[in-house]
Amino acid sequence: MTVLSSTTTASNCTATTGKVSTFSTSALEQSTCNSVSTDEAFTDGTILEMPNLRMFTLAELKNATKNFKAENVLGEGGFGKVFKGWVDEKTLSPTKSGLRMVVAVKKLNPEGMQGFEEWQFLTPFLSLQSEVNFMGKLSHPNLVKLLGYCLEEKDLLLVYEFMSKGSLENHLFRRGAAFEPLSWSLRLKIAIGAARGLAFLHSSEKRVIYRDFKASNILLDPNYNAKLSDFGLAKDGPVGTDSHVTTRVLGTCGYAAPEYIATGHLYVKSDVYGFGVVLLEMLSGQRALDTNRPSDQHNLIDWAKPYLVDRKKLARLMDPRLEGKYPSKGALQAAQLTLRCLANEPKSRPSMKEVLETLEDIEAMKVQSRESKNASSQNRPRRHGQAPVHPRSPVRPRQGGPGVGSPAVSRSPKAR
Ligand SMILES: Nc1ncnc2c1ncn2[C@@H]1O[C@H](COP(=O)(O)OP(=O)(O)OP(=O)(O)O)[C@@H](O)[C@H]1O
Ligand SMILES: [Mg+2]
Repeated sequence: MTVLSSTTTASNCTATTGKVSTFSTSALEQSTCNSVSTDEAFTDGTILEMPNLRMFTLAELKNATKNFKAENVLGEGGFGKVFKGWVDEKTLSPTKSGLRMVVAVKKLNPEGMQGFEEWQFLTPFLSLQSEVNFMGKLSHPNLVKLLGYCLEEKDLLLVYEFMSKGSLENHLFRRGAAFEPLSWSLRLKIAIGAARGLAFLHSSEKRVIYRDFKASNILLDPNYNAKLSDFGLAKDGPVGTDSHVTTRVLGTCGYAAPEYIATGHLYVKSDVYGFGVVLLEMLSGQRALDTNRPSDQHNLIDWAKPYLVDRKKLARLMDPRLEGKYPSKGALQAAQLTLRCLANEPKSRPSMKEVLETLEDIEAMKVQSRESKNASSQNRPRRHGQAPVHPRSPVRPRQGGPGVGSPAVSRSPKAR
């Protein structure tokens, strides 16, 4: 993760360090979150009184991951590596036989913080506290399940449900046989799943703000159901008549909302901005920030917004990996939704409930149009050999588009 400091601006977003002024490890034990009701539309999620987590020993997790074997590495983020592990389905104890379940073990690496100020050693603890408080209690089909954790002296590990298709980031930007381009309908499915997860968080009484919505935190199961992971930055939203909470500016460059970067005021709608950035990445196949692009195009939002306004311009922005196989009306509606999510004023952005409904309408429209096409094709002779449309963005570098060849995982230092 790239961390934003309070002096970061949208235009000069660079990797800097955040600052944590207070922290108590006892916070891990005192998790007091009342059971809350959720909006009717999102009742498939629940919030538990107490996190239902298993405490692992380091020896158990060594055992489960074959001593953190290199070939079991699933990926690496700013806080350390994520390993594949095997545990018993019922007891979650490491096992080599019987009913085994695959898990993902994130090994937070305080040594990765070297070069940072000394107090930043504590940031993994802060992250762990957040993960346990939020992820341990929130249960929803579109949130990655936190199964347990290990806290032994300097060792901090988190154990999650395993998401076999990895991250959306890998699918959008990584090249290779393992990463088939995502079709339009899969992109919509993923956007809808992620929107459901975020809508659930926002709809709860506490209005949880996720704060780190980005393509690498959207993980996919074997059927491309999307789930949000990483709650290290999640925060209880404003209560009563308050519109926002004020907090240190932490998050990821390119995804954080402008009002949050400028003032530290964090709104529920700050998450909606992040969602808009990911939608734009899904439409364009371009990373939110990419210094391999020409300098005036480093920030995707800055240069891509004008392409979202009409069909012709949009066709030049759309991801060439879609090979033109998308309904142009649906794409335009998604583009218009993206623009609304990226509005400068939080108030002007739609709620996640509205975002979800719009995406579902686009999905339904696509099915309808396919049905009506099928009906009309029964009455019309088929046209063979039609060339697919290959829209090409005039701003895309000629060789290897942005993101091509860039690392699949962020290795930039992370502090929360
Ligand atoms: N539960 C999981 N199941 C399967 N793979 C996972 C899981 N969690 C993480 N990964 C893999 O590990 C990679 C690294 O994840 P991690 O959350 O540590 O970093 P990140 O999200 O890429 O970056 P950041 O450190 O900025 O959050 C992911 O991109 C994904 O490929
Ligand atoms: Mg992550």
